[in-house]
Parts: sequence; C-alpha cells; structure tokens
Amino acid sequence: MKKVVGMFLVMNVVLSSVVLGADKKPAVKVVPSTPALLAKGKAAFAINCAACHGDNLDGNSPAAAALNPKPRNFKVDAFKGGEDAASVFTTITGGLMVDGKPTTMVAFGHLPVEDRWGLVHYVLSVRPKKAKK
Ligand code: HEC
Repeated sequence: MKKVVGMFLVMNVVLSSVVLGADKKPAVKVVPSTPALLAKGKAAFAINCAACHGDNLDGNSPAAAALNPKPRNFKVDAFKGGEDAASVFTTITGGLMVDGKPTTMVAFGHLPVEDRWGLVHYVLSVRPKKAKK
C-alpha cells in the first residue's frame, strides 16, 4: 500500500509539472550579448529599423508621423509584448500582435538569427534601467 501511495505522489508531481509547463511560451534560449553581436545589431538596426524607430532609437523618424500607434521609443516606452530578451527576440522574429491582430511592427524572421539577437541587445541597451526585469 505504501508503495502505491508513493507512486501516486510521484505521478502527481510529474503530471503537474507537465501541466504547468504547457502554460508557458515556447522556450527561447537567450544568446548573451557580446560586443560583436551588439555591433551586428547596430548595423542591422540602421538598415531595417531606423526608418521607423529613428536613428537614436527614440521613435523619432519621418515615418513615425504617418503611423498610429507610433513606433516604440525604446528609451522610454513600455513594451506590449514583454521586455526580456526572449520576448523581444520573439517580437522581432514574428512581429508584434496586439489583441490577436498584427501591427505595423512586422516580422523580421528573415534576418539571420545572429542579427536578430544583435538587435535584441542593441534595443535593450538603451532601455531605462528600471524597466528591465
Ligand atoms: C514600418 C515601421 C517599423 C519598422 C521598419 C520597424 N518597426 Fe518596430 N515598431 C513599429 C511600430 C509602429 C511599433 C508599435 C506597434 C504597436 O504598438 O502597435 C513597433 C514596436 C516595436 C517594438 C516593441 C514591441 C512591444 O512589445 O511593444 C520592438 C522591440 C521593435 N518595434 C523592434 C523593431 C526592430 C528591432 C526593428 C528592425 C528589425 C523594427 N522594430 C522595425 C514600427 C516599425
């Protein structure tokens, strides 16, 4: 009997961890920042992102006038899709969805994965400290 109860407890732990795991977003393994990756991000930003988010990452660009909502000012604005590196990578890769609808922040999944990680760290490097979690 003791053995049966023990088995039941083990099963319960296994099952609940499976169920809890199902709630989480698919895991993204964060690639840590390096000076080389940051340089890649900076270069990719100038080509792909600055037209909307501005050369200074502050959302101040000619295109911003025509966009509503405005492109994010990375220096002050909150992020709707999460501010941690894994979430920002997911946003850059798949685009930003708000209320199940795509936004003008489109997907950049066609960029090389290294460029996308560079972009993540470049964007996060100008975040206000208190907004980092
Ligand atoms: C066509 C203009 C445009 C381009 C190009 C663009 N963005 Fe955006 N981006 C936006 C807009 C607009 C938003 C805000 C969307 C909203 O809130 O509905 C945004 C939001 C974001 C956010 C915040 C997402 C969040 O969770 O709130 C990140 C991060 C971001 N962009 C990164 C990038 C990066 C990196 C690039 C270049 C690879 C890029 N964007 C290119 C327009 C653009």
